[in-house]
Amino acid sequence: DDLERLAGAIRRADTAVAVTGAGLSAPSGVPTFRGDDGIWDRFDERQFTSDRFRRDPAGFWTDRVALHRAMFDEEYEPNAGHEALAAMGWDGNLEAILTQNTDGLHGDAAGAGGERTNDGEPDVAAETETTVLELHGNSRWVRCTDCGNRRDGDPIVERAAAGELPPTCECGGVFRPDVVLFGDRLPDAVLQRARSLARESDVFLAIGSSLVVEPAASLPRLAASTGATVAIVNLEPTPCDGIAETVLREDVTAVLPRLRDLTTA
Ligand code: OAD
Repeated sequence: DDLERLAGAIRRADTAVAVTGAGLSAPSGVPTFRGDDGIWDRFDERQFTSDRFRRDPAGFWTDRVALHRAMFDEEYEPNAGHEALAAMGWDGNLEAILTQNTDGLHGDAAGAGGERTNDGEPDVAAETETTVLELHGNSRWVRCTDCGNRRDGDPIVERAAAGELPPTCECGGVFRPDVVLFGDRLPDAVLQRARSLARESDVFLAIGSSLVVEPAASLPRLAASTGATVAIVNLEPTPCDGIAETVLREDVTAVLPRLRDLTTA
C-alpha cells in the first residue's frame, strides 16, 4: 500500500527530510493555529507582529503572556509522532527535521531538551545525527534586543505575567521571545539551510502543516523540483497535495509509528 511504498522510498533514499507543523504537536495538547478553535480564532495575528513589539512592547508582552498560556500552559510532552521521527533519525533514515513549531518537542523527543541557538546554527540533537532546524525559533527562550543575551523564557514570561511590562535585561534592553514574529525575516542562514536540505532530499515529508505560511509552504515544491518524492501527512487537504506522490490523510500518531516500523522491517 501507500505507506509501504513510502517506507521503501525512505529506505532507499540517501537523504530524507521532513518539515513539520502544528498538527504534529496537536496530539500533545498544543493547539494548532488554523481550524476550529485554532489560535488565530482566539487571537489576532496583528497582536504579534515585530512592528507591534517595537511600538508597544508592554502591550505586546501582555498579549504574549496570554498566547503563551493558551499554547503551552498544560504539561506537554512529545507524542508518538515526534518519537517515531526521532527514532527514524537514530535509524539513519531521516537526515533533517525542519519544524515550524516553537514548542521544542522535537528536541525533547531526541533527548536534547529543546536546547538550541537561534543564530542559524542548527541544533544537532545530542543522541542523533538528525538536524533539527527550528524555522520559527523556540518559545522556551527569550533574547535581549540590546545585548543579545539569550535566556530561559519561563521566568521572563512569569515576570511579565506579574506586571513587569515589558520585561528587561540587566543591560536595560527589552526581552523578546526568541521566535520569528510576523514581519520578521527568517535568519538567512536558517532559510538557506532549509532550502538546501529540501533540494538535496530524495524523499520530502510534510507532516501536520497547512502549508500556507512561507517559507515552509514552498519547500515541498522546491524538493519536488529537484526530483524528490513528496509525501504529505495531514488530516485535511493542503495546497501541495497535487505534487505529492503519497497523501496520507490520517493522524500523525497513527501514521508515523507505522512508517518507522516499516522502514526498519
Ligand atoms: P496550522 O495550524 O496552519 O496547520 C495545522 C495542520 O495540521 C492543519 O492542516 C491540520 O489539518 C493538521 N492537523 C491537525 N491535527 C493533526 C493530526 N493529529 N494529524 C495530522 N494532521 C493534523 O499550523 P502550521 O502549518 O504549523 O507561524 O502553521 C504555520 C505557521 O502559521 C506557524 O508556525 C505560525 C502560524 O501563524 C508563526 O507564528 C510565525
